[in-house]
Amino acid sequence: MSERVVVLTGAGISADSGLATFRDAGGLWEGRRPEEVATPEAFVSDPAMVHRFYNSRRLQLRDAEPNDAHRALVEWEKATPDFLLVTQNVDDLHERAGSGKLRHMHGELKRVKCEFCDHDRPEAGEISTETVCEKCGQGGGMRPAVVWFGEMPLHMEEIFWALDACTLFVSIGTSGNVYPAAGFVDAANRTGARTVELNLEPSTTASAFRECIHGRAAEIVPAFVERFL
Ligand code: APR
Repeated sequence: MSERVVVLTGAGISADSGLATFRDAGGLWEGRRPEEVATPEAFVSDPAMVHRFYNSRRLQLRDAEPNDAHRALVEWEKATPDFLLVTQNVDDLHERAGSGKLRHMHGELKRVKCEFCDHDRPEAGEISTETVCEKCGQGGGMRPAVVWFGEMPLHMEEIFWALDACTLFVSIGTSGNVYPAAGFVDAANRTGARTVELNLEPSTTASAFRECIHGRAAEIVPAFVERFL
């Protein structure tokens, strides 16, 4: 029986592309934790600050390139008929590396949506409270199309179906601090799948994995995929 693979990635896979992670020592922005900025409440109380946070991260993407870990996952996907890549990341490095079977459970930095009519569109630059929705014509409601704390992650039914059927679950570059992603390993263990953590250091859920390999994703992910294929 061929392997049914589910891979979960977090900010650690993009660290080797120069994008800051959330919880590493420097994971603060203007002295605030992500939990204080990436929320509907913050967008109501200080929309300009939230726009600054996402505009600066969106512009950073122009200088970031996919790394060997992103590329290794593309090779793995090509060689594996039953493969699903789930990312918590809102950057576009997986797409730019060539991943196709990809789900952004926390949304995408390079898309924006209207709070009033839900219209969403690509955006590579900056938006503000002055940005007008091209569909409903209202201003002040355009926001990043990312999932904020307190909002429902995307594609959850499809993801849990895939976890219930998988034979191998690999978690890459995530600290295991944020649910529901941190609970994916438990779903995979319940189905008897092989579970592997590839991370710079043990995550908070490392003990739930059958195997843990520690190191930089750009080094350990290509090595793992090569051994697997
Ligand atoms: N290679 C592999 N792993 C790395 C590297 C690297 N070069 N650098 C850092 N890491 C690991 C860290 O050890 C840490 O465990 O990546 C993990 C990053 O953890 P977080 O910063 O918490 O990021 P993540 O787990 O993706 O956060 C989950 O929280 O803030 C919310 O919505 C946001 O999607 C995000 C979610």
